[in-house]
Parts: sequence; structure tokens; C-alpha cells
Amino acid sequence: MNFIIARFLTVIGLAAFTVLLALSPADAAKKKRDPAKRLYMTKTCIACHGRNGAKAIMDYPNLAGQSEKYMLGQIKDIIAGKRTGSPDATGNPRSQGMRGALVAPDGAITISDKDIKTIVKWLAKQTPPEPAKLKTPLDPKSVAVGKKLYKKKCRSCHGKNAMKPLKGYPIIAGQKRAYIVTQVKDIQSKARKNGKSKTMYPMIKKLKDTEINAVADYLSQIDRTK
Ligand code: HEC
Ligand code: HEC
Repeated sequence: MNFIIARFLTVIGLAAFTVLLALSPADAAKKKRDPAKRLYMTKTCIACHGRNGAKAIMDYPNLAGQSEKYMLGQIKDIIAGKRTGSPDATGNPRSQGMRGALVAPDGAITISDKDIKTIVKWLAKQTPPEPAKLKTPLDPKSVAVGKKLYKKKCRSCHGKNAMKPLKGYPIIAGQKRAYIVTQVKDIQSKARKNGKSKTMYPMIKKLKDTEINAVADYLSQIDRTK
């Protein structure tokens, strides 16, 4: 019961947040002309994935410039409860907040397939963010190890410079470091086993944490805006 109330409150909170954002007059005119962006806001995606999908909060993924096909599959899997992920800092499955925003307590899905398609098409065209500014520079040795590891173990699927993946596979260049680390670990532990993650598993099952950190160091600082 408490769980249902908590979910309900999350949805109300997100909706209120979105209304506040929508009321800001600055680019109200532009938004009117862009139905995809309006959907991105009213469906509360913006509360977690940030402005134009490029300013996600906490260790949530940035979506700007991501593969349309990949995003479509992931959203469907999250709605269906097929991608949960390991528990986050609050002890809940990582995708629970997103699911709570898109699935009503009675199980009804509050977003149509058409709206999801419209949003991902728009997100795929948004400019990816610059890599996060670092307070302390990364260890160049770790970055070099990560780069080498990437070529050996990841490039065949995620493509040159992690920007040209096989069709429907995710672009991982410039993604948030903490998010990359979590996802590789979740695929390794099978906390994430939806979609095509099985194809990646054999390549990463033996990676040590230091190697995962190194490859995330390298990937997270690739600048996709250049
Ligand atoms: C309450 C926060 C929240 C809301 C609202 C939310 N998301 Fe998410 N989203 C997340 C988190 C957290 C993840 C990563 C889950 C994980 O790590 O397993 C995620 C994952 C995703 C992914 C997969 C990204 C990837 O790289 O694998 C896509 C695509 C996505 N969200 C799109 C959307 C869209 C579109 C909306 C609005 C219709 C939305 N999200 C609303 C928090 C949210
Ligand atoms: C055999 C192909 C393959 C190889 C090799 C591979 N991956 Fe993947 N990777 C995938 C696929 C496919 C997915 C998406 C899984 C899904 O459909 O949910 C993925 C997902 C990911 C994600 C999550 C992306 C997101 O936005 O949520 C990260 C991070 C990642 N891979 C990093 C790596 C790293 C680092 C390596 C090398 C150490 C690697 N992958 C090697 C196929 C591969």
C-alpha cells in the first residue's frame, strides 16, 4: 500500500515539476511549435533526463543523440518491467522511478506507442552533451588502458570511437562515467539481461572492476560534439 502511495506521489511531484517548467515564458513560443519537445516535457521525461535529454540528473543516462531504435526497445522493456537493473542508492530497482512515471498504479500504461516514437525520434536528433567537467583530471594511464581495452573488447559492436555501433546498439561515447560503470556491472551480474545484453555478456564477463573503471574513464571523456 505504502509503495502504491509513494509511486502516486512521485508521479504527482513530477507532473507539478513539469507544469512549472512548462510555465516558464522564455521559450514557450518555441515549445508550441515543437510537439515532440512538448511531449518530452509533459510525459515528465525532462525531470530525470534533463533539458533536451542532455542534462540527466544524478547518474541517470543522457539520451540526446542516442540511437532511436535502441531507445525505443529500452523504453518498452522498462515499461514491461523487463529491465530493472541493480538496486540504486535508495534500494529500489534502477528503472523503478521511470516505470512509476509511465505506468499507473493499476497497471495502465500512461504513454502511447505513438508518443514514445515521437519522443525518441526527437531525442535522437538532439545535440549530445559535452563530457562532464572533472574536478580532478583522470589518470592518463587508466584512460590509455581503457582505450586499448575498448578496441579489443568493445569496438566490434559499439563501433569506431564508440560512436558508430551496429544497428540498434547503443552509442556509449560521452555517456556518464558512473552510468557506464553501473550498466557494464549490471550486464556482468545479469541484473540487466533485457534486449540484446546477452550478446555482450561473454565479452565482459571476466572484466575486473579496475578494467571496467578504465574503459569508463576513456568512454566518458569522448567529446561527441566535435
Ligand atoms: C523518475 C525518473 C525518470 C523518468 C521520469 C524517466 N526516466 Fe528514463 N530512465 C531513468 C533511469 C534511472 C534510467 C536508467 C535505468 C537503469 O539504470 O536501469 C532510464 C533509462 C531510460 C532509457 C534507456 C537509456 C539507455 O541508455 O539505456 C531511455 C531511452 C529513457 N529512459 C527514456 C525516457 C523517456 C522517453 C521518458 C519519458 C517518457 C523517461 N525516460 C522518463 C529515469 C527516468
Ligand atoms: C557482442 C557485442 C557487444 C560487445 C563486444 C560489447 N557490447 Fe556493450 N552492449 C551491446 C548491446 C547489444 C547492448 C544493449 C543491450 C540491450 O539491448 O539492452 C550493450 C550495452 C552496453 C552499455 C549500456 C548502454 C546504455 O546506454 O545503457 C554499455 C555501457 C556497454 N554496452 C559497454 C560496453 C563495453 C565497455 C564493452 C567492452 C568492454 C562492451 N559494451 C562490449 C553489445 C556489445
